[in-house]
Amino acid sequence: MPAPIVEARAGANIALVKYWGKRDARLNLPAAGSISITLSGLETRTRLHELQDDAETDELLVNGEQLPVGRVSAVLDLIRNLAGGGPFFRVDSDNNFPTGAGLASSASGFAALVMAADQALDLGLSKSRLSELARRGSGSAARSVFGGFVEMRLGSIDDGSDAVAEPLANAEHWPLKVVVAITATEPKSVSSTDGMNRTMQSSPYYPAWVATVAADLDQARRAISERNFELLADVSEFSALKMHASALAARPGLLYWNPATLACMHAVRELRAAGCGVFFTVDAGPQVKAICLPDSCSRVAESLAEIPGVARVLICDLGPGAEVVN
Ligand code: DP6
Repeated sequence: MPAPIVEARAGANIALVKYWGKRDARLNLPAAGSISITLSGLETRTRLHELQDDAETDELLVNGEQLPVGRVSAVLDLIRNLAGGGPFFRVDSDNNFPTGAGLASSASGFAALVMAADQALDLGLSKSRLSELARRGSGSAARSVFGGFVEMRLGSIDDGSDAVAEPLANAEHWPLKVVVAITATEPKSVSSTDGMNRTMQSSPYYPAWVATVAADLDQARRAISERNFELLADVSEFSALKMHASALAARPGLLYWNPATLACMHAVRELRAAGCGVFFTVDAGPQVKAICLPDSCSRVAESLAEIPGVARVLICDLGPGAEVVN
């Protein structure tokens, strides 16, 4: 493989106010805003290699395995168009997430990709534009462009140019910790994209979900600015459970939890009742993410690790946004 022309990294992010549903599939516009934290421990590193002139398409390697270029090539096309053309690339991407951890890599993957492509084609796009481009790959990826606490804006312009993420506060503002309890290592049954589409099409609770996100965003924004952990715990668990309630009411219902997922959620609530600074969130899969105040982190990690069905726990800090590293 020729030497890469550029390398970029981006951290995974975890939504505290969830994104679940789209108002436009082609531009991948969310039906509501969302708020997340970007992590430092779980990241994607993406190297771009320029292919020869006779190449007819991009190539994608993830952790050394060749995968279909689909959405990756579509996002690269958007960036090549902005540059007035450009070469095909071999995209060589590595996730440092433990194999089979079942953690979403599309957010960090697309954030690293747009960062690298911007540099490779010498575009110098703003972070806001990069967030918009990352959104075209995956809605949650728009948020991984930024570090710390991040809000994805709903936006109102038809072309999607204001449906972008923006930073609320950096990681140092409130150095929370995240304990990820891995409760299953097989690939998830229904992807986020398919799960949210099914919820939109068939769940009677979907309109109620969309109608109530704005109030959650207000509460989460206030909790973050005031560093009010109880307020953030309340709105984050509410948003996660409400997202799952809307998905459970789809047809057929989306049941992302296993017994260990539920046991972890109960354990987190018991720890909190006993004075520990912790709350949970769960995405479109069975892993539980326990967001902790720093002094509660080791107790939470030890407790979750002991639960039958928990294969392992990972401990992460909040981290920076996507960046070019080479
Ligand atoms: C449950 O960003 O993976 O993690 O835009 O269709 O690629 P697409 O969806 P994706 O959905 C993430 C859903 C979630 C909640 C969240 O991260 O906000």
